[in-house]
Amino acid sequence: MLGFTLLRTVSQNLRNNLTSEPKCALQFLRTMSSQEFMKAVIIKEHGGPDVLQLAEVPKPKPGKTEVLVKVHAAAVNPVDLFIREGAFMSLPTLPLILGKEVAGVVTQVGNEVERFQEGDRVTCCLPWDGGYSEYAVCDQKCVFPLSNQLSFAQGSTLYVSYFVAYRALITKCQIQSGESLFVHGASGGVGISAIQIAKSRGLTVCGSARSTAGREAVLKAGADVAIDHSKTNYLVEAFASTGSKGYNVILENCADSNLGKDLMLLAPRGRIAIVGTKGTMKTSKMPSVSPTLVNPRSLMYTEGCIHGVTLTGVTKEEFVEYSRFITSGVEEGWLRPHIGKEFPLSQANAAHRQMIEFPANGKIVLVVKHDS
Ligand SMILES: NC(=O)c1ccc[n+]([C@@H]2O[C@H](COP(=O)([O-])OP(=O)(O)OC[C@H]3O[C@@H](n4cnc5c(N)ncnc54)[C@H](OP(=O)(O)O)[C@@H]3O)[C@@H](O)[C@H]2O)c1
Repeated sequence: MLGFTLLRTVSQNLRNNLTSEPKCALQFLRTMSSQEFMKAVIIKEHGGPDVLQLAEVPKPKPGKTEVLVKVHAAAVNPVDLFIREGAFMSLPTLPLILGKEVAGVVTQVGNEVERFQEGDRVTCCLPWDGGYSEYAVCDQKCVFPLSNQLSFAQGSTLYVSYFVAYRALITKCQIQSGESLFVHGASGGVGISAIQIAKSRGLTVCGSARSTAGREAVLKAGADVAIDHSKTNYLVEAFASTGSKGYNVILENCADSNLGKDLMLLAPRGRIAIVGTKGTMKTSKMPSVSPTLVNPRSLMYTEGCIHGVTLTGVTKEEFVEYSRFITSGVEEGWLRPHIGKEFPLSQANAAHRQMIEFPANGKIVLVVKHDS
């Protein structure tokens, strides 16, 4: 019964434009009918971290253009928490295996797969979820090779944070060498990715974080200045660090609290990228986040602009562009994910609590141990 419901769930979730072809959904339906089983963390209902349950579910088989990957690590992202809570604008049907990105080793390939073979270390992007599990299937278009220079834990974090940081800074804000960037909320996955990308492009970067460990991670990622966003006068400090010229670009991870403040920090013709909000967002028409106070005049003075950024807007062509950029960043040595904490797969609920209750320090990852 559970297996059957999972079939329906997975097929209903194949909405992302990368996997929108009907054949892909059919492949998933067929491949999920295996009698072999694996462990995975599923949610059957929305709620707090304790709705995450370790369960036995059918082990998937790859369709023609898919690879089957033995998962070694699965990244935890804020979107997983939003979906678990039932507080996301586009909610998949339950039950569901959460998890939008994994790293592991290819154990089987579909007969039309050309780019990968058994034994390859890979990163898989799973826009349709399914990562908190011992095995995952992924279309070869959404897989990229994992360098030996990165651990599996690091490899499992190359998609969500780096893709959205790239989209915010390069696709939307078109950052230029010599410009200044403020990463408002820089100690988490997106913030650290953004710092590394901006430094690789020759920007001066200031990042904010609440904890000492978070600020250390911000500096280690390459930021020129780290400030404490829990201090009352931190905006003065942030502005002063530009020589009172303001920032050319601001990447905002907590826009419901900070958008109004960002407008006051902007330089002439500055750009703001809204990447995240802390509150919940039940639908795009009825946000449950508290409204932020904005002075529109500050945008007139600077002729600044605000970009909304979403991973679901990434086109197939952009997907290829972003994954090439990330792969070359790893090879060149400047792109190095920072893993703050690892949990076993069976403790996914503790991993979610960690993200809610403690200041950020890089990425949180579920490590998957296999019996053989
Ligand atoms: N648009 C998209 O497609 C997309 C994709 C990925 C992520 N996101 C969103 O982007 C945001 C960041 O994701 P993440 O993976 O980096 O999450 P994360 O690892 O949990 O990090 C959250 C960051 O926000 C900071 N923060 C918390 N409260 C803040 C405040 N009042 N002012 C400034 N910063 C604050 C945290 O700093 P401290 O903990 O040090 O306070 C930390 O740096 C989340 O809202 C996430 O949902 C959006």
